[in-house]
Amino acid sequence: MPDTITITDDRTGKTVTVPIEGGVFPSSALRELDPTLYCYDPAFLSTASTRSSITYLDGANGVLRYGGYPIEQLAEKSSYLEVAYLLLNGELPTSAELAQWEHEVTHHTFIHENMRKRFVDGFHYDAHPMGMFVSAIAALGTFYNDAKEIEDPESRQIQIRRLIAKSPTIAAMCYKFSVGLPFNQPSNDLSYAANFLNMMWKIGDYEVDPVLERAMDVLFILHADHEQNCGTTAMRVIGSSHADPYSSAAGAASALYGPLHGGANEAVVRMLTSIGTIDNVHPFIESVKAGEERLMGFGHRVYKNFDPRATIIKQTAYDVFEVTGKNPLLDIALKLEEEALSDSYFVDRQLYPNVDFYSGLIYQAMQFPTSMFTVLFAIPRMSGWLAHWQELLNDPAQKISRPRQWYDGPDERDYVPIVDR
Ligand code: SDX
Repeated sequence: MPDTITITDDRTGKTVTVPIEGGVFPSSALRELDPTLYCYDPAFLSTASTRSSITYLDGANGVLRYGGYPIEQLAEKSSYLEVAYLLLNGELPTSAELAQWEHEVTHHTFIHENMRKRFVDGFHYDAHPMGMFVSAIAALGTFYNDAKEIEDPESRQIQIRRLIAKSPTIAAMCYKFSVGLPFNQPSNDLSYAANFLNMMWKIGDYEVDPVLERAMDVLFILHADHEQNCGTTAMRVIGSSHADPYSSAAGAASALYGPLHGGANEAVVRMLTSIGTIDNVHPFIESVKAGEERLMGFGHRVYKNFDPRATIIKQTAYDVFEVTGKNPLLDIALKLEEEALSDSYFVDRQLYPNVDFYSGLIYQAMQFPTSMFTVLFAIPRMSGWLAHWQELLNDPAQKISRPRQWYDGPDERDYVPIVDR
């Protein structure tokens, strides 16, 4: 059987046959049949918006690979900065390349004092840290006018390095502002994860716990990229207009902020807290089935089986709880998972725990306020967003994103003076 698809326009009898490659066929087939014929696909359920070599997902089998490397191996053996290098360059670095990359990122973690002392003071005292993070990423770009030179590969590399290096600093700044505590400057003597934890928590003789440092780094690895998710699609759409990477990343972070996307980890902990006890799990499950509630942290557009990240995060949770003490919400989460996975409502809809179901339990046990959870997602996803932005700019098949529409509004009609309405 040939790897082709044949489409016939029954209105004209015209037929076109195009190749199927990598599970997709070119929409140019439709333009050959009728240039005014469009494929209606709200939320892009069946649309491949790009060709990419960065991350591979197999939703039916719970497979996630960065550059061909299984997420399970990267979580066990790699580091976030090594994974960021892999996403950006397509290959794991040599030891010299990794040392150079770590040095470059480590020595670009400071942000301009105007951001730390003036910009951040413009926020209301109870501003949500994720809203602050989105704003700060956009504002960061105003300190680097060379960021607009997106055609210059060297400028792109400098901005990529700045955004990856400064995201944790900005995140910690947002947290410190929200609790009215003084900021801790970045330290060049610490790893990426340890530097972030140090900026978050350093008071007095605080020392970063190596178990929590490793758990943070693993969580960063797991959240680094996930192919064409909502936030990354936003990065690509904005980047396709040749906006600078800071403005594009701020748009991606805005998409991630939504509770159906990266905001779900915060929503999960709020959901578990409101359930409150094991005894309330079954009534809550029934309310979800009645359509009154949504089981946050469950379901995924791609994974119709388990989310491999959830499996790793669940294991990481136990490591963290050894240090922090068990999060009391864990038992409620485990009971929810157990009951949902044995209920046809969820099984029939292929709803399984996703990356957000257990991550919030770890963050809460590490003393992060729930309002910081999506910021913790955005920090590592910055490298994924930038890898896709870079791939977009290097892809000759890409141009400014501009979908078509199915118009079903009113036909032409004449203006009616207000006295006659
Ligand atoms: C992330 O895309 C990515 O890769 C995202 C991400 C990444 O790394 O970037 O993986 C990160 O965003 C993970 C998802 C976090 N969001 C949540 O946990 C929020 C809760 N989940 C859902 O809202 C939902 O599952 C989505 C948004 C994740 C996926 O939604 P889809 O693919 O559009 O599926 P759908 O809403 O059409 O649901 C299909 C059916 C519906 O039932 P019916 O109308 O057919 O009867 O399943 C039901 C939905 O009502 N359903 C749920 C549910 N999720 C879907 N019912 C109860 N609880 C849920 N969580």
